[in-house]
Amino acid sequence: MADVRRVAVLVSGHGSSLQSLMDAAADPSYGAEVVLVASDRPGAYGLERARAAGVETAVVRPTDFPDRAAFDEALTGVVAAARPDVVCLAGFMRILGPRFVRAFPDRIVNTHPSLLPAFRGAHAVRDALAYGVRVTGCTVHLVDEEVDHGPVLMQAPVAVEDGDDEASLHERIKHEEHRLLPAAVRLVALGRVRVDGRRARLLAAGPGPATVPAPTTAPAAVPAPTAVPAPATVPGPATVPGSPGGPAGGGRHGRAPDREPIDGGTP
Ligand code: GRF
Repeated sequence: MADVRRVAVLVSGHGSSLQSLMDAAADPSYGAEVVLVASDRPGAYGLERARAAGVETAVVRPTDFPDRAAFDEALTGVVAAARPDVVCLAGFMRILGPRFVRAFPDRIVNTHPSLLPAFRGAHAVRDALAYGVRVTGCTVHLVDEEVDHGPVLMQAPVAVEDGDDEASLHERIKHEEHRLLPAAVRLVALGRVRVDGRRARLLAAGPGPATVPAPTTAPAAVPAPTAVPAPATVPGPATVPGSPGGPAGGGRHGRAPDREPIDGGTP
């Protein structure tokens, strides 16, 4: 197939985010395919998912290397050999070193289960519950050399419900991650994201598949609790050029016709 973009995915665990990506990429109109799934853990179920889908896999174990720099170098080599247009961190529970990040500038996408910059780190869902927030969510962002820090691509809110525990809340957050991640990865893969400082801007459709899949559902409005001021309804999804209901080629609201912002809101 002509000009199908290449996606390499790093996983450490269950791989449900990877699955959402592979499912989306199974549609030829997606315009990108997963060409490699690599893991730091040989037992990661995500590797099984990749094999079941006929995707090449690799394992790079930190314990096989004398230090972090050597691991970073090896992982960079394995991923670079797959010639990815975008690298996706789908539940990869290891901090990438500078060698890796610099090898794929503005082309590494991570999904994090909180509304960044709140609750960075490995226990974002637990920390949000412990803090007592009413709303948390997920953030899909580009990766820079700081942890959970790069420019935001997409975010979606998730209301915390009475009786939620870490597992139940994380499950609902993952549902949103599975919606946003494939859309964000596709935009980066197709070269439709331009980074301008902390802001990531979406370039209008060029060559390649004409449409960006619209999210299947608008982000849920946060239910109004009785004793707390009703949280604002989250704005509906921003229209993506070429998507149903959106002006083909951009130019919305008098902006320059060659780009559309995707920051600061939901896709
Ligand atoms: C996701 O919630 C992701 O944000 C976090 O780890 C989870 C990965 O889940 N970093 P899975 O392995 O894709 O099922």
